[in-house]
Amino acid sequence: MSSIETALRQRYGAADQPGAIIWNGTLELLLSHRSVRAYRDEPLPTGTLETMIAAAQSPASSSNLQAWSVVAVEEQARKERLAELAGGQGFIRRAPLFLLWIADLSRLARIAAQRGLDHEGLDYTELLVVGIIDATLAAQNAVIAAESLGLGTVYVGAIRNHPLEVAAELHLPTRAVAVFGLCVGWPDPDKPTAVKPRLPQAAVLHRETYSSANEAAAVAQYNTAMRNFYAEQQMRVEGDWTDHSTKRVAGPQNLSGRDKLRDALQQLGFGMR
Ligand SMILES: Cc1cc2nc3c(=O)[nH]c(=O)nc-3n(C[C@H](O)[C@H](O)[C@H](O)COP(=O)(O)O)c2cc1C
Repeated sequence: MSSIETALRQRYGAADQPGAIIWNGTLELLLSHRSVRAYRDEPLPTGTLETMIAAAQSPASSSNLQAWSVVAVEEQARKERLAELAGGQGFIRRAPLFLLWIADLSRLARIAAQRGLDHEGLDYTELLVVGIIDATLAAQNAVIAAESLGLGTVYVGAIRNHPLEVAAELHLPTRAVAVFGLCVGWPDPDKPTAVKPRLPQAAVLHRETYSSANEAAAVAQYNTAMRNFYAEQQMRVEGDWTDHSTKRVAGPQNLSGRDKLRDALQQLGFGMR
C-alpha cells in the first residue's frame, strides 16, 4: 500500500475513506498524529522548547492580540504536583517536559493599565474565548512541530479538574487560566501507539448548510471501526464510541469537577459578562 492509502486506512479505519485526497509531506505528518503517553528516559534535544514556541507563535491570532502564554515545567517536584492535580496521570511525571497553555488576558490588562487606559472589554466572555482559541492554535502548532522532530505529545485537559490550584502552582496572575497541559517526550518504542480512527467525513463535513441526514450511518460505521481498532490494538475497552461519548456527557458527575469551571474562571478574574 502507498503511504496515502495506509494513512487514510489508519485515520478512518477500513470503512469508507475519502476519495480525492491531495498528498504531501506535511499532510502525511498531520494524518499520522497519535497521542503518546509512554516516553523514553532521555532528555529532549537542546532547542526543542524554543523551536516549539516559535511554531506556537506562528499561527494566526485574533486581532493579533496574542492572548496566550505557556508555562514550561521541567522540575520533577512540580510535575508530580501537577500530575496529582490532573487525576494522577502518571505519564505527566515521566514526560521530560510539561507545557501548560494559558488563556492569558493579564498582559492586555497590564499594557492598558500602563497607559492608564480602560480594559473593560476583558471582562466579557468573548475575550476569554479569544484567549482560549489563541492558546489552542498555538499549542497545536507546537504539537505539529514536536511531531515533525519525532517527538510524541499528549494533551492534558485534566488540569481543568483543579484550575485554582493549578493557577496557584504556576503563580498565574489574575485573568489567566491554564486551559490544558501538554506532555512532550521521546516515544517509547517498546510501547508504540497507533493512529486512532476518526469519524467518517460524512459526520463532520456539511456542504453549504448543516445536515445530520447521514449521521446515524456514519456513526454506526465509526462504532465498528473503533471496535476493530480496540481488538487490533488488544485494548480491553468495553463498549463503542457512542457508549463512551454519551457517558462522558451524561451529567455533571462525569465532568471530573469541571462542572464548577465557571465559578473558578470568575475567581481567576474572568468577568464572564
Ligand atoms: C484538549 C484535550 C485534552 C485532553 N486531555 C487528556 C487527558 O487529560 N488525558 C489523556 O490521557 N488524554 C487526553 N487527551 C487526548 C485524547 O484522549 C486523544 O487526543 C483522543 O483520544 C484521540 O486520540 P489521538 O490523539 O491518539 O488521536 C486530550 C486531548 C485534547 C485535545
